[in-house]
Amino acid sequence: KNFNFWYFFGSLALLVLVNQILTGIWLTMSYKPSATEAFASVEYIMRDVDWGWLIRYMHSTGASAFFIVVYLHMFRGLIYGSYKQPRELIWIFGVLIFLALMAEAFMGYLLPWGQMSYWGAQVIINLFGAVPFIGPDLSEWIRGDFVVSDATLNRFFSLHVIAVPLVLVGLVAAHIIALHEVGSNNPDGVEIKKLKDENGIPLDGIPFHPYYSVKDLVGVGFFLIFFCAVIFFLPEMGGYFLEHPNFDPADPLKTPPHIAPVWYFTPFYAILRAVPSMAGSAFPGVVAMGASIVLMFFLPWLDRSPVKSIRYRGPLFKGAVALFVVAFLILGYLGALPTTPGRTLVAQICSAIYFAFFLLMPIYTSIDKTKPVPERVTFK
Ligand code: HEM
Repeated sequence: KNFNFWYFFGSLALLVLVNQILTGIWLTMSYKPSATEAFASVEYIMRDVDWGWLIRYMHSTGASAFFIVVYLHMFRGLIYGSYKQPRELIWIFGVLIFLALMAEAFMGYLLPWGQMSYWGAQVIINLFGAVPFIGPDLSEWIRGDFVVSDATLNRFFSLHVIAVPLVLVGLVAAHIIALHEVGSNNPDGVEIKKLKDENGIPLDGIPFHPYYSVKDLVGVGFFLIFFCAVIFFLPEMGGYFLEHPNFDPADPLKTPPHIAPVWYFTPFYAILRAVPSMAGSAFPGVVAMGASIVLMFFLPWLDRSPVKSIRYRGPLFKGAVALFVVAFLILGYLGALPTTPGRTLVAQICSAIYFAFFLLMPIYTSIDKTKPVPERVTFK
């Protein structure tokens, strides 16, 4: 009965997923996955294909929208403790979706074969080269060549268009089936399946239709207003959604002065750069970046609090979440900029906060004061 703003983003993520798949199918009809033709085929889509510009902008804006929606969706899970027992599996499928989504976005970004596509891929694939012993072979195996080339573009196209979307759709189905098994959490963290009427209907539940079908449609309406505003008036978002160097075709002989990932990767990129390299190897940074995502899987077990929702938590958890959000945003900001010693220091402090949020969670959630959780959901 008491779902709020934060409950819009699951259904919106589904909407964006469908948008990406449909616009992706139509883009593929005119796109050429070859190093000599890819860039020109995207220009052809933008200028000559009927409505091609719209389909391309729906897809490129959709990629950023996907991450905005998913980050807000994950944040809801965090503040309402939706990852806690009995929803651990929903959360784990969620983190797997997040990983698949990152892989999908990374490989999609190579396809327009612009300068940032090329050099971004070069930088990220080279990171695998930092793995001890097998590193150089591993990155060569991923690229299918000694440098990012036509072979790389072909395999990324195949993975972006069919393999990863299949995985994503499968994971989303699993995510929703797992959710259906236990039911949604709510802003009070009350298990509504505990109190049922004589017909077995939860006393605090309401029918999905018309209540949630209509509520979600309102969310879709608002979302489409913002989504269309960006598509029609700000498709590049000042270089944040489509980076400026990507309007130049890839040139393996000309490294851009500043290579930065798209905004949704920048917090993790900042963590990578914050960790000093060891004996000339970036491996420690790569491990830290990997760990920053892998840690999310363990959230259900790191959180020792007896209550789920932030409403009934104490000052320690609230303070930790606030610090975490600020650190994550600063990392995102820094990850888009070239490094300076001062920025690296700030990134190191924020990375420390990021990791402390997870690693100290068992301590601060067990000693934190909590308020009693009501029996029934609160509803005005
Ligand atoms: C393609 C991406 C995703 C789609 C389509 C999706 C879809 C959904 C939908 C439809 C719901 C139910 C409606 C709602 O509670 O908002 C839901 C719930 C949930 N999702 Fe996702 N999700 C996605 C990604 C994620 C990710 C990345 C995470 C976390 C890492 C996550 C964690 C959760 C959790 C914990 C719930 C239960 C929330 C509650 O009951 O309070 N999801 N998801």
